[in-house]
Amino acid sequence: MHTVLIKNGRVVTASEDQIADIYVEGETIRAIGKDLPFTAEKVIDATGLLVFPGGIDPHVHLDMPFMGTYSSDNYETGTRAALFGGTTTVIDFILQTQGKSLHDALDAWKGRSDGNAVGDYSFHMAVTDFNDHTREEIKQLIDKGITSFKTFMAYKGALMIDDHQMVGLMQEVKKHGGLVTVHATNGDMIDYLIAKHRKEGKLSPLYHYLSQPEVTEAEASGRFADLADYTGVNGYIVHLTCEGALNAVRRSTIRNQRIFVETCIQYLTLDASLYDKGFESAKWVMSPPLREKKDQATLWAGINQGLVQVVATDHCPFLWEQKKMGENDFSKIPNGHPAIEHRFELLFSEGVTKGRISLQKFVEVAATNAAKIFGMFPQKGTLAVGADADIVLFDPKEKHILSAKTHHMNADYSSYEGWEVTGKCKTVLLRGQVAIDNGKALVQKGYGKFIKRAPTAPVV
Ligand code: URP
Ligand code: ZN
Ligand code: ZN
Repeated sequence: MHTVLIKNGRVVTASEDQIADIYVEGETIRAIGKDLPFTAEKVIDATGLLVFPGGIDPHVHLDMPFMGTYSSDNYETGTRAALFGGTTTVIDFILQTQGKSLHDALDAWKGRSDGNAVGDYSFHMAVTDFNDHTREEIKQLIDKGITSFKTFMAYKGALMIDDHQMVGLMQEVKKHGGLVTVHATNGDMIDYLIAKHRKEGKLSPLYHYLSQPEVTEAEASGRFADLADYTGVNGYIVHLTCEGALNAVRRSTIRNQRIFVETCIQYLTLDASLYDKGFESAKWVMSPPLREKKDQATLWAGINQGLVQVVATDHCPFLWEQKKMGENDFSKIPNGHPAIEHRFELLFSEGVTKGRISLQKFVEVAATNAAKIFGMFPQKGTLAVGADADIVLFDPKEKHILSAKTHHMNADYSSYEGWEVTGKCKTVLLRGQVAIDNGKALVQKGYGKFIKRAPTAPVV
């Protein structure tokens, strides 16, 4: 059996920090400890390096049909770029087409993912049309390891469901121990503001931002939490960006509710001043939009308060040519940006190096919490005997510059062009194989495997 011995690294998990060796046998970790008495086919000296569990990004969109085009990273390019940046597992979103079944959508996504992924992946199912037939499919999907169901309270006419459907879905998911996740913004209000701005001839990317004010997110987050409280389902708000929305979640904790919160690396690091650059601002047209500095402060604090459990990316890249679909109308700019490769290093650099979060917190929000919330723990998200050997050897001191010229995502611009980052993923193992070593990818497309997830709430 293939064996690897990683020697003398500083092994950091969400609960431990020790200088130790890790011995890998096949795809999993066999032992962790000081001066392990094993010989191995491959020995890696990790002296001076941090040794982390592989990162988990539970919010990515690969090869996704959206706003009249497809996101530009497919399973191969997207999961490979993720590995370069220390993310060994991603969870992608399957989108149900309204009028069709959840299984039709699953088949379409399997057609794009099977045999193509380089890194490991799993699926959330986005329910865009909840009806009696869909209801029957919920348990079937949970049995297949798809245990989280995404809802959109926005993108009216395409993905949005109303509260009638939301409550029905929540009750069904609750029955089977699944999780309901949500893009929580008020779709009707956003639609109104988009129409108003267009009518007034206000068509630049700035008006994308002005069509989604903080209240649209705060209101929907509160409503989602209330409906989840009523139905008793566990909830998870994706890409939460702002103070108002986090305060709605804070209120829900008073009634001891389980509403998990994800923010994304861009909302911690970039702000709405980027919407002041004419059409270039299309690079940062995403939903929800970037917010204010005060919101960044709230989100960092929310991480330390345990209210924000996950930092993801919402990676949904488009080439500049695709962004230009909205050159004359902000509402036609495909929403999303490239980030899958930079989450782990940026979070370390802006979070740990700058003293905003501890090393343990870093591991929690970059890997462990997502594994727990989404039913992959302890197979993924930690360094422990029996866990998958998904391991990042990280140089905390190495500085490097982010650029479209050097990144591995299929995107011809970078949202972080010229940013200096402190800390670099040097070697990345995925299920025992060295996947990335000193800037080279060593595993091929097809190595990435589908990760079946468990329900994480009691089955009622
Ligand atoms: O702008 C975004 N976020 N694009 C991807 C779809 C979504 O809402 O997550
Ligand atoms: Zn969204
Ligand atoms: Zn998304």
